[in-house]
Amino acid sequence: MMSAKVYSAQPFEFKSDAIAPDKSISHRCAMFAVLAEGESRIENFLRAEDTLNTLKIVGHLGAEINDDGSVITIRSTGIHETSEILDCGNSGTGMRLFCGLLSSAEGHFVLTGDEYLKRRPMKRVTQPLRSIGAKLDGRNNGDLAPLSIRGASLKAFDYVSPIASAQVKSAMILAALRSDGVCTFKEPERSRDHTERMLSGMGATLHMDGLLTRVWPLEKPLEPLNIRVPADPSSAFFFAVAAAITPNSTAVIEGVMLNPTRIEAFKVLEKMGADITYTPTSERYELIGTITLKYAPLKGVVVEENIAWLIDELPALSIAMACAEGKSIIKNAEELRVKESDRIKTVVDNLNLCGIETEEYPDGYAVVGGELKSAVVNSFGDHRIAMSFLIAGLKCGMEVEDIECINTSFPNFFELLGMCTKVER
Ligand code: S3P
Repeated sequence: MMSAKVYSAQPFEFKSDAIAPDKSISHRCAMFAVLAEGESRIENFLRAEDTLNTLKIVGHLGAEINDDGSVITIRSTGIHETSEILDCGNSGTGMRLFCGLLSSAEGHFVLTGDEYLKRRPMKRVTQPLRSIGAKLDGRNNGDLAPLSIRGASLKAFDYVSPIASAQVKSAMILAALRSDGVCTFKEPERSRDHTERMLSGMGATLHMDGLLTRVWPLEKPLEPLNIRVPADPSSAFFFAVAAAITPNSTAVIEGVMLNPTRIEAFKVLEKMGADITYTPTSERYELIGTITLKYAPLKGVVVEENIAWLIDELPALSIAMACAEGKSIIKNAEELRVKESDRIKTVVDNLNLCGIETEEYPDGYAVVGGELKSAVVNSFGDHRIAMSFLIAGLKCGMEVEDIECINTSFPNFFELLGMCTKVER
């Protein structure tokens, strides 16, 4: 088990166009290319464990993949049965979206993952997919991986999801594309909309109307993708928080996706007092631009809306809350309990180790801003917990154990962190 030590930082000017490419978009590029006719071209694909696992699975399913080290091309020959067990590693997105994609494919498929993924709930996709005719099973009556899928004909559906989850929505949209009629999916709150944008861009017919998405089955294969994956705002956010807690510092993050369903955490940081500007530079499937953050003293905030738009950033946001004046509260975020770790518990326990007062609720927590103290904390195998507490180290020094998980989403994290302060591994 590897650990890393971060030393407290002097004021810094962080500027980078090398933040890890977006994870959600990279997964989708690999999977959606399977439904296209012709060659998809993907530049700046995220070369991290989660997304490379997805790419490998797409290869097992029969796609021809070429990688010259910079551009990845994928040519689909349809979805083929395979003798391989399809290993999604740590990725809930991978496993849940593949459930939607494979439910209608001809053949039998087995999906598995690492020790953490095998504990995460899959019923949120297997149950609605089963209700339209999919033949999926797994431990605990289809809730836990390994999952087995036998492709079947899927019926058109009108599904009202009890949770705002882009993974559930995307799995159902993928199923809808190969069902026998027009389908609707309704969510309680809008979740990230990359699937809708990318599939529409590839020629699928989808109508988005508030919380309702209507999907028409494909009459012909999709057009291939031609995309450069923008930087991941969730990864960029670690460096925004770094500058937000270090007096007289700035962070300039270039080429980052500015989709409103992904930059809500930056908006909260602004509400807390940080000085942030967003400068759009281009648009392809998504709006892309530069985010600039200048340090300003932070104050506490209540976060209880648009939770799906900042769910991945809440651990890092909690570090900003710990450095703010006053109490911050996060509510309506029970989904945190079923991420790569129970993030309510892992954030609260680690903040307590750093001398920060907290209150834990079933659906969130409170953080009382104060003086962060140096500690030895564990990541619990969760990449975002590891990176959040390494960023906290800029304030007071920190040792984080079990840091290998960072490779699931942000392989060059330490290189960039080294631009802010001294790091030892
Ligand atoms: C993702 C959706 C989110 C997010 C995850 C990636 C996606 O999960 O937490 O890291 O790419 O669709 P939800 O399914 O809870 O929205």
